[in-house]
Amino acid sequence: MQVVRTIAEIRAAVAALRAQGKTIGLVPTMGALHEGHLSLVRAAGAACDAVVATIFVNPTQFGPNEDFSKYPRTFEADCDKLTAEKVDLLFAPDTEEMYPAGATTFVAVEPIGDRLDGASRPGHFRGVATVVAKLFNIVAADKAFFGQKDAAQVAVLRRMVRDFNFNLELVVCPIVREPDGLAMSSRNRYLSAEDRERALVLHRALRHMEEKISIGVTSSSELIDIGLGVLAEDPDAKLDYLRIVDPDTLEDLPDVENGALIAVAAGIGPARLIDNVLIPPQ
Ligand code: PAJ
Repeated sequence: MQVVRTIAEIRAAVAALRAQGKTIGLVPTMGALHEGHLSLVRAAGAACDAVVATIFVNPTQFGPNEDFSKYPRTFEADCDKLTAEKVDLLFAPDTEEMYPAGATTFVAVEPIGDRLDGASRPGHFRGVATVVAKLFNIVAADKAFFGQKDAAQVAVLRRMVRDFNFNLELVVCPIVREPDGLAMSSRNRYLSAEDRERALVLHRALRHMEEKISIGVTSSSELIDIGLGVLAEDPDAKLDYLRIVDPDTLEDLPDVENGALIAVAAGIGPARLIDNVLIPPQ
């Protein structure tokens, strides 16, 4: 795997692959890689001739009181994992390379970017859309791979690709979970053993709601009451949101009859965790 730090170098390396007639799959990440990230790398490898991964902890998507400086950085271990997956190129720029002094242009996907995590993390999706637009312009990929784990991010990026006519296909891959159901996340590293147990309450709430749907409950308010009841089992969980929304617009839905996204976010100890489930039309 070739590790590349500058935009000029990654452009040249990607152009060389394209000149050989190879299709390119792009997997953007912030590092601290786990099986969720690697599932995207494998999907990219299966669908494209060459895989370009990126590792960049993007400062513009972190709020002033968020965990940018504490965010886990495990570059050597990440490189080993990507090498084992036969990734062709790793683009790992520094902040100045991505945001040289005077960079003042941002991408705002409105109003989707102000919903769910965008409501509780103002500016977050502006930072995400901006850096992903830049990566799309830097790496001329045929397909770009993202995880359903970040369902609101998927909605924002889908709309951005459509509205800005990016010439690539956005591929969304399923949530990878630990054996007990916890959605894998780089932020799970923040959890103590006790918090790690408590974190399961998010998945448990979603599962209970899914069970009710399977026996015919479709009303969002009824389902949300059931989910809130489960989340209340942990009085220390700091609920951010539990919503039943349209997966494309992130607007609240009165029922799940035509399909829905159920999304939850809560603070467990020092970590803000998210999880979700897509409900097919009933
Ligand atoms: P990061 O949190 O590192 O995630 C990178 C990609 O891995 C995202 O598409 C995310 O949805 C996916 N992912 C994370 N956990 C997953 C899991 N358990 N199962 C499946 N996919 C999972 O998301 C970001 O970085 C950033 O916002 C980024 C898009 C790189 C822009 O900075």
